[in-house]
Formats: sequence, C-alpha cells, structure tokens
Amino acid sequence: MNKKRILITGAAGFIGFHMAKFFHQRGDFVLGFDNFNDYYDPRLKRARANELAKLDISIIEKDINDDLALHEAVNQHEITHLLHLAAQAGVRYSLENPQAYLHANMKGFLSILEVCRKQPKMPLIYASSSSVYGLNQKIPFSIEDRTDHQASFYGVTKKSNELMAQTYHHLYGISVTGLRFFTAYGPWGRPDMAYFSFTRAILDKRPIDVYNQGQMFRDFTYIDDIVKGTAAAVDQSYPCALFNLGNNQPEELSHLIELLEKELGIKAEKNFLPIQPGDVLSTFADIKESEEKLNFNPKTSLKEGVGHFIRWYKEYYKV
Ligand SMILES: NC(=O)c1ccc[n+]([C@@H]2O[C@H](COP(=O)([O-])OP(=O)(O)OC[C@H]3O[C@@H](n4cnc5c(N)ncnc54)[C@H](O)[C@@H]3O)[C@@H](O)[C@H]2O)c1
Repeated sequence: MNKKRILITGAAGFIGFHMAKFFHQRGDFVLGFDNFNDYYDPRLKRARANELAKLDISIIEKDINDDLALHEAVNQHEITHLLHLAAQAGVRYSLENPQAYLHANMKGFLSILEVCRKQPKMPLIYASSSSVYGLNQKIPFSIEDRTDHQASFYGVTKKSNELMAQTYHHLYGISVTGLRFFTAYGPWGRPDMAYFSFTRAILDKRPIDVYNQGQMFRDFTYIDDIVKGTAAAVDQSYPCALFNLGNNQPEELSHLIELLEKELGIKAEKNFLPIQPGDVLSTFADIKESEEKLNFNPKTSLKEGVGHFIRWYKEYYKV
C-alpha cells in the first residue's frame, strides 16, 4: 500500500490521538490540527499531544475555522487524506451551549469542505455520530433508515454535516465518508463520558448520577475497534459513503456500572434521576454494510474494554 500523508483534525482528542498513533505506527505521515479548547481538562489533551510528540507527530494549534491555516497545512505537507475528527462533542452540553456546536460543527465543517473543494483529489473522512438516529424507534439502527427526527442540537449538527458532505461530493466530486461512531470508549478517553466520570466519582467516593434507573442501552465500542474501522474507511475512501461503527451489542448502563464496581473493587453510590432531555433510551448499530465494505468486525467485549480503561486510568492518574 502506498504511504499516505494524513491530516487529522482533533488529533489531541480521544479518537484523533489513537488514529494518529495507528497511522504513524504503520508508516504513514501524520500531521495534527487541534485548538486544545477547554471543553474538558486541556491537560489531558496536552498529555496526548506529548505522547504524539515522542513519535515526532506534531499538532498545529489552530481552530478549524482558520481556513488559511488549514490550506497551508494541506499544501505545505502535501496531504493526501483528511481525517476530520475535530468537533464540539457531547449530547447534553449542546443544550447548554448550542453556539459552541454552531462554531465547531457547522462553520468549522464548512471550512473543512472548502479546503477539500480546492483539493478535490484529497478524500475527506469525517466523524458523524450515532446521535443522528435521534428519536428513531426501530433497532438496530441501519444506514438505510431515515434520520429526520433529531433529539439534540448535537445530532442536528452531525446530520447537517452528512448533508453538507454529500452536497460537496455532488458539486465538486470530492470523496466523502461519514462515520457514525457509537459510544467510543477506552484508555485516554473523554472525561465527560459516563464510563470516565463514573470511574472518577466512584474512586472519590462521590455519588454517581444514574438516569432512568440505569435502564438505558448503549452500543459501547472499544477504541481499538473504532481505530480499525476508521483506518479502513481512510484506506478505501469510497466516493460518497456513510458507515455505522458500533459494537452491534448494546449493553445496559447498569451493567457498565457493575463492571466498573468490580474492576475498582468499590460499590458505587447511586443518585437516580429521570432521563435527561436530548438523551435516547438505546443505541444499537446495524453493521452489515461496514462488515462488507470495511471488513469491520468489532471484537472487544465491554468487560475486556472496561478492564483496559481502568488499568490506564489508575496508571495515568496514579491511583
Ligand atoms: N467518542 C465518542 O463516543 C463519539 C461518538 C460519536 C461521535 N464522535 C465524534 O468523533 C469525533 C472525535 O470525538 P472524541 O471523542 O475524540 O472527542 P474529543 O473532544 O476528545 O476530540 C475532539 C478534538 O477536537 C478539538 N476541537 C474542537 N473544536 C475545534 C475547533 N473549532 N478547531 C480545532 N480543534 C477543535 C478539541 O480540542 C478536541 O481535542 C468528534 O467529531 C465527535 O463528535 C465521538
């Protein structure tokens, strides 16, 4: 396979960091682009960037709305593939601060597309989300299903990205692939996500907020499986595609809590609350297309993945 030259936006983020390491280790050139914002503790982003720096992977510290900086990065480094993962993530925060999503996910995404328009041979692979399935009742969620009923503004921005990308493909012939990630988790993960914040609270002997009696299902997908699926999408660079990257095995939130309790050897104190606005009861990926076209075959059980995460957490935070 020809060596690639990949620009990864959001490289100081959870998934971007793992993608950068993966591509570097197999011999591709990787350049990062990230604004290191403080949506969650930027020290974790700096620590990820330091790990990447040890591999000689640098990150341009700029906002994706800075299209001049993006153009320069692409031109000067002869980028062949753009993996766009930078975004304002999180469902609940999109009710609190929708403007942040407008800035990063809408304006920022347009800025990415405009860079691609000037480099029509450079494929774009970008992060969408399982959130686009919004209020859909039918499970598992299939790429064939309509996604017209959003449950959060975050979902709206990701759904809009898919429409924008498809339109730029139609107008300018850019190769675009959207990846609908389903609850990615693992070492170096995101502190705003339940598995991470629960771990911290349980260790601090603080109660955890459990919504809907823990009767919510998530298709938790381990980072190594996400990495393989994403890399395959970059390698294939289909003309215009969407894929579900999910474990195809939803697990109850209460089961996640039990696994964390077992790994930590501490019983969690639970504060039961009603389901939050913007949240959905379950996510469940139909991965037939991803199996066929990306050879996507997630293998990591939640038990195994939680074990890896807790081992990393204890080492990183010196617990
Ligand atoms: N982790 C998941 O479970 C999950 C699920 C569905 C979709 N996604 C999507 O996958 C992508 C990566 O998610 P993640 O979990 O790694 O999140 P993350 O927040 O850890 O990483 C995103 C990175 O993008 C950077 N960023 C944000 N806005 C920026 C801007 N305007 N300019 C430059 N950089 C900016 C942030 O500093 C951060 O380092 C995101 O698009 C997210 O919406 C993630």
